Amino acid sequence: MKTRQIHLVSRPEGFAAPENFEMREVELPPLDEGQALVENLYMSIDPYMRRSMEPVATDLPPWPLDAALNGPSIGRVIESKNAKYSVGDLVESMSGWQEHFISDADDFVAYLSPENAIAKRLLANGATPKDFLGILGVAAQTSYFGMMCAAKPVAGETLVVSSGAGVVGSIACQIGKIKGMRVVSSAGSDEKVAWLINELGVDYAFNYKKTDISEGLKAGCPNGIDLVLECASPEHLSACLPLMNEQKLLLIAGFIGIYSTGGVVKNIRNFEYVLDRFLTIKSYPFMTYLSAYDRFVSDMLRWREEGRLHFKEAMYEGLETAPAALCNLFTGATHGKALVKLAK
Ligand SMILES: NC(=O)c1ccc[n+]([C@@H]2O[C@H](COP(=O)([O-])OP(=O)(O)OC[C@H]3O[C@@H](n4cnc5c(N)ncnc54)[C@H](OP(=O)(O)O)[C@@H]3O)[C@@H](O)[C@H]2O)c1
Repeated sequence: MKTRQIHLVSRPEGFAAPENFEMREVELPPLDEGQALVENLYMSIDPYMRRSMEPVATDLPPWPLDAALNGPSIGRVIESKNAKYSVGDLVESMSGWQEHFISDADDFVAYLSPENAIAKRLLANGATPKDFLGILGVAAQTSYFGMMCAAKPVAGETLVVSSGAGVVGSIACQIGKIKGMRVVSSAGSDEKVAWLINELGVDYAFNYKKTDISEGLKAGCPNGIDLVLECASPEHLSACLPLMNEQKLLLIAGFIGIYSTGGVVKNIRNFEYVLDRFLTIKSYPFMTYLSAYDRFVSDMLRWREEGRLHFKEAMYEGLETAPAALCNLFTGATHGKALVKLAK
């Protein structure tokens, strides 16, 4: 059968553009023994993918030119010669950016495989396939594990979250509120700032494109900062440092602000406060905390059910929209978890 894939045809300098990608139609061979044919239902679009467009490896290898790309997707088995998978099974994989793919199934994400009952139990309890990339996806795990495992939220303390209207950021803001913290955040438009305050219940938020970051943080944190979840930039992290209370933690989920400029951190300021206030700066891979996966799933779905956790999606339709969906992450045009719907 034929299917469609998106290939990377050039590497961007600066912001990624849809012209860096091309749609290709490819012929899939018949299945060998042990293989399964999967129709992708949804794929996830994530900031780290801009780093995969660089020619050098980061924590992941670079995407190849002129070949199928990879990224999180959830699909349905539509033909199987693998005893472990039957037609109709849902599988999560790193085989996004294509409508169908053939796999020997060893890259399927283990906790979603039929070998493990979690997926079936979750679907029976009201989770939908796209939830595995959205409210239960990697960005959500990064936020939850950061807040609940790498940090310990303390009621009454002040949490600062950058890119607060993003996926990691918005979940962190809401966990902070659920745990009784004062939450201060920022985003790149007045609409997003209003959403943070009115929908998520953030105590203080500002538009970092209009307000000096240090001034915004000072206004929002009269008692100093006790915990930072950094998603945005070295500039934002630097502005937090002079406001930190002693022996507190700054967690770095990512620096989306440097992914389009070569990924090099050039401008950390105020580092002396790390020494003067005995601060910890910590980056973490979400995989470290997968032992807490069951607790993550149960908390996230319960909070959503109780109306305490709002999860916004930005749903794109069709594989051809995927390049623009990725580019939009870096202009702020996206609000919500960027997903591409590939099939019904
Ligand atoms: N360590 C991990 O395993 C892991 C996993 C997932 C994500 N992350 C990291 O967590 C961060 C957030 O990821 P996400 O998936 O939740 O993405 P996201 O925040 O939903 O997506 C992008 C948003 O970032 C903001 N942004 C873009 N450029 C910016 C800049 N120069 N400065 C400040 N904000 C900017 C934009 O919002 P505005 O309109 O507000 O600017 C944009 O809508 C990223 O740094 C990502 O790399 C890490």
